[in-house]
Amino acid sequence: MRSNIAAGNWKMNTDVEFGLSFIKDLHDKGNHDNCEVIIAAPYISLKSMVELKSNLGSSIKIAAQNCHLEPKGAFTGEISEAMLKSIGIDYVIIGHSERRQYFHETEDQLLAKIKIALENDLKVIYCCGEPLEVREAGTHLEYVADQLNGSVCQLSQEQLSSIVIAYEPIWAIGTGKTATSVQAQGMHHSIRNLLAKTFNEDTASSMSILYGGSVKPANAKEIFSQNDVDGGLVGGASLSVDSFYEISQSFPG
Ligand code: 13P
Repeated sequence: MRSNIAAGNWKMNTDVEFGLSFIKDLHDKGNHDNCEVIIAAPYISLKSMVELKSNLGSSIKIAAQNCHLEPKGAFTGEISEAMLKSIGIDYVIIGHSERRQYFHETEDQLLAKIKIALENDLKVIYCCGEPLEVREAGTHLEYVADQLNGSVCQLSQEQLSSIVIAYEPIWAIGTGKTATSVQAQGMHHSIRNLLAKTFNEDTASSMSILYGGSVKPANAKEIFSQNDVDGGLVGGASLSVDSFYEISQSFPG
């Protein structure tokens, strides 16, 4: 059985103090028996958040938003997967559209990052998704299939058990414009079919596929009720404990 996941991606928005009070407040709201909860915070907050959630005995998982593709070396300003692992990080986001767009990350580079993350026992949230013009041209399924064929589909079946896929249509990120549940389900179904064809049905049905793009308390229930949607990767609405908690409570009973 695949898990339901509520993941928050804070992007470049929060400081250390915010991270600590968020973890404490989220923990105080009670157990998350219905889903796995992941918070992807800026690098500077990660260590103190891991320490706090361990002290609290919380099951919240902490994620980095990026990592470098080389294991070590002269890459001023970069952070390696081994460094993330050494402070107790559980997940790393790889391939967010903002990294693809602003930092020109290619599918080959993303695959290298995924491989090195897995070697370091980190789980990966791999992001894919099409820009507006591709959606309007009607070639979004092929576009996302190409992204997956160049990355996740190059892995072994065993490696796939450490991957979560997040479908984030670029036109829905931070725009307040959410994909309809039918659009999300259509893409998630197509991704799962591709995984079934590339690997097998069992592997495909065991993988969590998250939707990201203006998820908020008002639409989370509807989106999460779709058969192939296993949760959300939430940006803006993850910056408030109350709204993120409400989203995490939006899975079908
Ligand atoms: P928003 O929820 O702010 O649209 O951001 C989505 C996202 O990019 C999460 O990674």
